[in-house]
Amino acid sequence: MLCYIDGMERSIIIAPSVLSADFSDIRTALEDIRLSGTNWVHLDVMDGVFVPNITFGPKFISDIRPCSDLFFDTHLMIEEPVRFIEQFAKAGSDCITVHTEACEDIRETLDLIKSFGVECGLSIRPSTPVEEVEPYLDMVDLVLIMSVNPGFGGQELIPETLNKVKRLVEIRGDRDYFISIDGGVNASTITDVFSSGVDVAVAGSAFFSAKDKRSFVQKMSRGQGDLR
Ligand code: DX5
Ligand code: ZN
Repeated sequence: MLCYIDGMERSIIIAPSVLSADFSDIRTALEDIRLSGTNWVHLDVMDGVFVPNITFGPKFISDIRPCSDLFFDTHLMIEEPVRFIEQFAKAGSDCITVHTEACEDIRETLDLIKSFGVECGLSIRPSTPVEEVEPYLDMVDLVLIMSVNPGFGGQELIPETLNKVKRLVEIRGDRDYFISIDGGVNASTITDVFSSGVDVAVAGSAFFSAKDKRSFVQKMSRGQGDLR
């Protein structure tokens, strides 16, 4: 994982989600993300079963892989992801995150991700207690706290989910997992998101609707919500 300590000032990673991009012009979206100054892109995979929406699969990821050097942060919102880990790894994901609620055997799924030399993440819905990820903290590179009910962009952040982030910061100790938050991150919520202690903030609709994406990333990564 990349470390973002910028001098003395703390800086978090902003991971734009292509869920809010125009899929007919995905090259431009990836270029806009690169030019914004971040080096992560968040890829939301939905199967219509685990969540009530469908997006794209491994072919989309392997097709865009040659167009981009960004860190591919693949978020699998699919039932029994173990069935597709090989495909998502070979498609070029740099990190694959699965949901505790979707896996029959979480440990086996994480091990499979790692066996392909890909970083692994574990995510929970807003209704799932943070204790559900705790047994796996020694194995994961990333914990993704959903701050909205997964399925759609443009929802409002559920403030209580930030307590899970704070808990994960508190118990991290020597472990080096990143803590990421996903859903409803925008200029109004970034101050609270930043002070919760996250390392990565996913932003879909707010990123793609920002006129000056470079300024958006610069300010949001320092927890500043005044984007004018
Ligand atoms: C929701 C997805 C999010 C979503 C965030 O299920 O996992 O990544 O794109 O979108 P915004 O930033 O618009 O809330
Ligand atoms: Zn996501």
